Amino acid sequence: MIDPSEASRAAWTARYPDLAEKTVFISGGATGIGASLVGAFAKQGARVAFVDLNVEAGEALVERLAAEGARAPWFRTCDVTDTSALRAVIDSAQALEGRLDVLVNNAGNDQRHNPETVDEAFWEWCVSINLRHQYFAAQQAFSWMKPQGGGAIINFASVAPRLGIPELSVYNAMKSGVVGMTRSLSKAFAAHGVRVNAITPGAILTPKQLEKWITPEDEARLTGEQHLHRRLVGDDIAPTALFLASAASNAITSQAITVDAGLTA
Ligand code: NAI
Repeated sequence: MIDPSEASRAAWTARYPDLAEKTVFISGGATGIGASLVGAFAKQGARVAFVDLNVEAGEALVERLAAEGARAPWFRTCDVTDTSALRAVIDSAQALEGRLDVLVNNAGNDQRHNPETVDEAFWEWCVSINLRHQYFAAQQAFSWMKPQGGGAIINFASVAPRLGIPELSVYNAMKSGVVGMTRSLSKAFAAHGVRVNAITPGAILTPKQLEKWITPEDEARLTGEQHLHRRLVGDDIAPTALFLASAASNAITSQAITVDAGLTA
């Protein structure tokens, strides 16, 4: 059994020198996969701006990373379902260094729901937190990336649509939508040097997942079904985001890269 922290440490030693020059905006960066993303980009020396609803966790992350010697990220509270506020905070992030190079559309919510009782209000909420903000954040980021002549946008999809999880029917509609959106925006933005890709995580056992949804029995089943029989954590996702953000992937666009230890293969 491989210790995930060992695996992550190895992946994090990869350096992408171009990222130290970049301004990176990450949504939902305070906890879970987002916190790993913020840490990974900050440790590359990037100027990281992140937003979240969870103020306490966001501020604690900034302090922890500064104490670890990483470039201290810029954190603001923002509800990404408020499109005007999201546009404004992306503009503020761009103003930090006068540029915006990378957008990571990470915020999401996998609240379980019963397809027999889902109502329109739930549907609209699920669109707003799992799909709509990714689109408008990409549109706003592109308005800065276009005159720069380059940038990278990374959207978050999920393996859940491929697994057909019944309690995630609306979430899965949105996450499938992320893949189609990624392909269209890739084609639309490519002429201006902006690449658009998605990451499709598998079962990433963040503290929230373990607290709310995943029992020890679920974990045993999931890791048993993966080709690599070990727990995946946020730090297993972050290295793929670094790669997709850096010039190391400069011929890769319109892709959804699955990071699931073989769960769906
Ligand atoms: P999470 O739900 O644990 O965390 C998302 C972050 O977004 C949290 O810090 C939360 O406070 C923040 N957030 C939630 N609503 C917000 C709002 N309205 N405005 C601003 N911030 C808000 O998500 P997790 O598990 O870390 O996943 C990150 C991304 O990866 C999500 O898009 C998720 O759908 C996707 N994903 C996660 C998987 C997993 O197993 N954890 C599997 C497949 C996809």
